[in-house]
Amino acid sequence: MSDWVDVTTAAELSPGASCVVEVDGVMIAVFNLDGEYYAIEDICTHDAGELASGELAGEEIVCPRHGARFNIKTGEVTAPPAYEDVPTFPVRVHEGKIQVRDDRWD
Ligand code: FES
Repeated sequence: MSDWVDVTTAAELSPGASCVVEVDGVMIAVFNLDGEYYAIEDICTHDAGELASGELAGEEIVCPRHGARFNIKTGEVTAPPAYEDVPTFPVRVHEGKIQVRDDRWD
């Protein structure tokens, strides 16, 4: 089973904010959406845009390159030009720190 990796402290990631952490070579974007945390791979499935630098519109992140949208809760693509979903990852708060792990190979 993969290890949990510290992202930041819960106090530092305010609602509407995001940050990116590398986990075993995978860039993962973690979002605070109204006090709940969600994590997706920080790579747009259209042409590898960095999603965390896009605008968060409700539950959707808008890719800053060409405007594809993804639901940050489910990873589902909701607007073209991307057509493939992005992976999601489990997030937890442990001793005041937000942690994420890549569970795809467990
Ligand atoms: S790289 Fe994200 S929409 Fe093109």
